[in-house]
Amino acid sequence: MLLTHQRVVVERGSRSGLPIVVAVHSTVLGQAIGGCRLTHYADWRDGLDDALRLSAAMTEKAALAGLPHGGGKTVIALPPGTVLDEPGRRAVLHDAGDVIARLGGTYATGPDVGTGPADMETIGERTPYVFCRPAATGGSGDSSPHTAAGVLAALRAVAAERFGSPDLAGRSFAVLGLGRVGSHVLRLLTEAGGHVITADVDESRRAVAEQHGATWTDPDSCLTAEVDVLVPAALGGLLTPATVPRLACSAIAGPANNQLAGVSRPANNQLAGVSGPAGNVPGTARLLHERGILWAPDVVVSAGGIVHAIAAELHRESAVQIAARIDGIGETLAGILRAARETGCTPAESASRLATFLLGERAVPAMAAC
Ligand code: PHE
Repeated sequence: MLLTHQRVVVERGSRSGLPIVVAVHSTVLGQAIGGCRLTHYADWRDGLDDALRLSAAMTEKAALAGLPHGGGKTVIALPPGTVLDEPGRRAVLHDAGDVIARLGGTYATGPDVGTGPADMETIGERTPYVFCRPAATGGSGDSSPHTAAGVLAALRAVAAERFGSPDLAGRSFAVLGLGRVGSHVLRLLTEAGGHVITADVDESRRAVAEQHGATWTDPDSCLTAEVDVLVPAALGGLLTPATVPRLACSAIAGPANNQLAGVSRPANNQLAGVSGPAGNVPGTARLLHERGILWAPDVVVSAGGIVHAIAAELHRESAVQIAARIDGIGETLAGILRAARETGCTPAESASRLATFLLGERAVPAMAAC
């Protein structure tokens, strides 16, 4: 298999003793960006795999969002059952910060699954290459409401393509995952007049669902619900040759990274934080296509967070300018879905073609064109 990553650092943190992976996939368009994931893995090598896949997706995400940036990712792989106390968390975040500092600015991190603005502040004690520190200390703060705003723009584009109108009022949605981004998506959807059913592996999120008047269900029923749009907002790897035949939605668009997977994984591995195996990912996109389910590529849908952080912190744009940029995710997605329809490609292939074009000849595409 070809090594398509520019640089991958794997290190045992000197303070924490924990495995830290920083994968820099590409700096062809500029500094690589991508969040710091802090979660449990059965084996640290699963964390390495995750970092490799997620960083490659970040290259496409940044390119498709029109940003002069490449893709990277940090994964801190916690062994099963590890609980970090406050000093332990600081230690491992400082370890990660040191690795990022040594990359000399070719990569900058941000929040991701398991980390937030306060953690970015801690990483920021070791390196300046960190986005989304709290607003009080000069950062752009929590990126999740902005990611969610981008998801709404994407959902309008999907509704226009599939149902002939961008209006979300009266449409039905199944939001799978009520973490930081999923909760904001749920709120925005109910405000837009959507009917929402929702689920999370964490039962305590039920209160969030009820607060917004959504119907709570279990994750499998949410995945297979008969709704207009399924909105994956948890970990990736949920669309597989095993799950696609069971879906009853008309379209899928959500912020979870790396939603498509080529083969099924045991459920416990998914809970361990693996965001989707390699394998025949384009084949799964085709299965969705053949079932008549419109899938919006997650690399386009989930870009609101990085768009906001970069526009706010590097370009000091106004809130109005940034909102317009995030809204632009809808137009980008509409173009990709239209191109797919006109050429008979899957949306995954259409997005991948556009990313390859934007990245130019120098980059190895993550997915072959159709
Ligand atoms: N988790 C974010 C993503 O996947 C990563 C990020 C957000 C990086 C904001 C930088 C700034 O897009």
